[in-house]
Amino acid sequence: MKNSENGAIGIFDSGIGGLTVAKAIHENFPNENIVYFGDTAHLPYGDKSEAAIQAYSIRIADLLLKMGCKVIVIACNSASSASYELLKEYVNKQAHVINVIDPMVQFVSHSLADKRIGLIGTKRTVQSGIYQKKLAAINPACTIHSLATPLLAPMIEEGFYNSQISHEIVWNYLSDPILQNIDALILACTHYPLIRNEINEFYKGKVNILDSTQIIVESLMEYLTSHQLFGTSQNSELQFLVSDYTESFEASTQIFFQEKVSLKWHPLWN
Ligand code: DGL
Repeated sequence: MKNSENGAIGIFDSGIGGLTVAKAIHENFPNENIVYFGDTAHLPYGDKSEAAIQAYSIRIADLLLKMGCKVIVIACNSASSASYELLKEYVNKQAHVINVIDPMVQFVSHSLADKRIGLIGTKRTVQSGIYQKKLAAINPACTIHSLATPLLAPMIEEGFYNSQISHEIVWNYLSDPILQNIDALILACTHYPLIRNEINEFYKGKVNILDSTQIIVESLMEYLTSHQLFGTSQNSELQFLVSDYTESFEASTQIFFQEKVSLKWHPLWN
């Protein structure tokens, strides 16, 4: 069933952050089957080495290919920065691979090239400098002002948002001089759409907050249209797999998917 319209959309992240992307894909493509993989045994990716993330990503891609996915969406900036090129080569023609960075870079280079752009993300994403490199390759005059915000993903995972604690942490990070006078801020982590309101509040609505969710939906739309690969399932199936399972984890998936989701344990290594 490789690369046929009957194949599912495979989506993965280190954990449940990518469910923000899965939710948007599900809403926009109701006739697509979705397989979501959260690599909860290895969470967080943001602190891991590039080599470790590459090894996890290959295992996950293998599983998603075995499950007949026609598209693999890397719904994680840390994994997109560490393993997109490798995964694309590895998966080759068996499926189309979409990462969360390229569509955002394309958007910024077309629409915001003359603006002062800030970025927040995990240590892995920020230290890789990947947004800057990709943007400079398209438009050398574009500069991104990046700040690693490693407390944000675990804070959100624990359900701290729209709270006094998250307010303090968000305010502290966004007050960093590196982000001063920005016109737009890239949320370079799939967890961050959940604190979009707080970020917007900090900037009093004066900064354009860019999250990749909608841009990924558009990128997927473009691919499925140009390759005539739209699914036709009347009762589309949603499967959610995790490499480590706890009940509390399942409870927090609700925060990300905004509805109850049941997770199945599927170890990456037996
Ligand atoms: N959701 C991941 C990302 O977009 C970050 C979480 C993690 O560090 O595992 O980068």
